[in-house]
Amino acid sequence: MPKSKISRLAMFSALSTLAFAAPTSAQSVVGSGVPASTVSNSAERPIAFADQAPADAGLIILMQSAELPDIPALSPAERSAVEAAIASAEFKGKTGTNLKLRGIGNRPLIMLAGAAQPDKAGPEDAGLDWKSAAGSAVQKLMKEGSELAIVGSPDAAAMAEAALGLDLGQYRFDRYQTDVETAPAAQSVTIAGPSASAAQALWNNRYKHLADSVRMVRDLQSEPANTLYPQSFVDRVNAAFKGVPNIRIEVLDEAAMRKMNMGAIVGVGQGSPRGSRMMVVSYTGGTGAPLALAGKGITFDTGGISIKPNKGMWAMKADMSGAAAVMGTALSLAKSRAPVNIVAVAALAENMPGANAQRPGDVVRTYGGKTIEILSTDAEGRLVLADAVQYVADRYKPFALVDIATLTGSVGRAVGDQYAGLFAREDEIADRLLKAAEDSGEHLWRLPLHPAYAKAIRSDIADVKNSGVTDAPGASAGAHFIGYFIDESMPWAHLDIAGVDWNNSAKPLTPKGASGFGVRLLDQLARDWTAK
Ligand code: BES
Ligand code: MN
Ligand code: ZN
Repeated sequence: MPKSKISRLAMFSALSTLAFAAPTSAQSVVGSGVPASTVSNSAERPIAFADQAPADAGLIILMQSAELPDIPALSPAERSAVEAAIASAEFKGKTGTNLKLRGIGNRPLIMLAGAAQPDKAGPEDAGLDWKSAAGSAVQKLMKEGSELAIVGSPDAAAMAEAALGLDLGQYRFDRYQTDVETAPAAQSVTIAGPSASAAQALWNNRYKHLADSVRMVRDLQSEPANTLYPQSFVDRVNAAFKGVPNIRIEVLDEAAMRKMNMGAIVGVGQGSPRGSRMMVVSYTGGTGAPLALAGKGITFDTGGISIKPNKGMWAMKADMSGAAAVMGTALSLAKSRAPVNIVAVAALAENMPGANAQRPGDVVRTYGGKTIEILSTDAEGRLVLADAVQYVADRYKPFALVDIATLTGSVGRAVGDQYAGLFAREDEIADRLLKAAEDSGEHLWRLPLHPAYAKAIRSDIADVKNSGVTDAPGASAGAHFIGYFIDESMPWAHLDIAGVDWNNSAKPLTPKGASGFGVRLLDQLARDWTAK
C-alpha cells in the first residue's frame, strides 16, 4: 500500500471577506486572469545509453588530454583526420573547451569536449570533470538538428556523469517565446560506452531524478511572479510529488499561521493580496530523526514599504530560490528512494507595498514568542525564516537544520558568483557541508558567525531588529538573526545563495539564468549524513 498522503491543513482563509485578505484557491482570478502561456518549455534531448554510437549521430568525444581516446565508432581514416585537427588547433582537452569539426566521414559533426582539470591533481579521476565536458558541449549544440552520441567515457560512472552534465546543461526556459525561428534541438543523445547497462542503472536510480529535480527548481525560479505566487508554488510542488511514495505534505495558510502566532511570515505577506503559505514536505526513507531543510520563499521581493530601486528588481522573482531548492532536494531524494529521513519547509510570501503592508518600526511576534522590530521591510527573508525554523524544529524534531536563502546582496559582494556563503556555529556541520560541496560541485565558502556580532542585532524595544545593524557585516548579521531563533543545541548551518541563484552568463552545467543551486549540494549532504 502506498504510504503517500497529502494533507492540506486549513486551505481556506477564514478572513477572506476582509478587503485585504488573501485570495484563496476558491477565487478564480489571480492577477489579470490571462495566462501568459499555455504551453510547457520545448522538449529537451532525450537521453539513452548503448554500447555503440548510432551510425549517423554527431559525435561528442570526451577528452582527458590532447590524446584522442580509443573510439570504436571512428574508422582509422576518421581517426587520423581528428588527430590532425587536434594538432593544428592545439586542443589540450581542458574543461569547458570545445573543438567543433565537420566533414569527417559521414558524421554530421564531431565535437571534442575537454574534461581535464589540470590544476586538480588528486586520487582517482579527481582531475576529470565529465559533467562539465558534456554540459558545455551540449550548450554549443543547442541549434544542431542532428542526433548526438557521447563517446570516450572510460567507465559507467563517467558515462552517468556525462549524462547528468548534458541534462543540466541543455536546460531551457522558453515557454513564453512564441516568435522563434528554430526551437532548441530535441534530437536524442546516446551515451555510448562499454558499461552501458551499469551506467543506465546509475542514471535510472539516482542521476535522472537529480536532473529532473534541478529542472523543477529552475522552472520555479524562472517563472515570473505574475504566475508564481505562494499558492501556485504549492500547487506546482504538490503536482511534482504526486504518486511519489513515503511523502507527507502539510500546507499552512494565513489563517493557520495566525493561529500559531507566526507574526513574522504573516507580516511580510500582509501587503500582498496573495496569501502567504508554509509548505512542509517530509520524506521517510530511513529511520530516526529527520534532517530539516528550510528555504526562503519570497515569490517576489519589491522590498515592501522599504521599496527597492527599479534597476534589477525583476530578478527578485527568483527570491524563492531557497524554497525551491529544498523542495527539489526532497523530490530528488524521494524519487531515488534514498535511505534518509528529511523534512523540507518552504516559507512562502510575496513582499509587496500594499495598503496593509507592514511598516518600518512595526514589532511582530514569532511562533516561539520572540519579538522582532522591523527596521527595513526589505530584510524580509530572515523574517519568514524565523517562523519557519522555529516551527520545523518544534514540530518535526530534526537532528540538524540547514536553511538556504537569497538573503543578502552582501554575500555576493564578499564571495562572488562561484560560491554560496556558509555560516555555522560548529565546525562539524560546516565540514559536512564543505565536503558535500566538494563532491557535488556546488561550492561553498565559510564566512564568519562570530559571537561578537550577536549583540549587533539586539533591538531597543523588541528582542531583535531585522536591519539597521552597523556592527556586523551584512551577510553575518542576517545569519545571526536566523540563528537567534534556533536552539544552541541544534546543529545548524545557514547558506546565503544570493550570489549564485541566478547566472548572468552561462556556465557548463547552467545556461544563463536560473541555476537550481542547492539541490545537488543538499542531496549529497543528506545521503552522506545518516540520521542517528
Ligand atoms: N532578496 C534580497 C537579497 C538579494 C539581493 C538577493 C540581490 C539576490 C540579489 C533581500 O531580501 C534583501 O533585500 N536584503 C537586503 C537586506 C538589508 C535590508 C538588511 C540587502 O541585502 O540589501
Ligand atoms: Mn528584501
Ligand atoms: Zn528578499
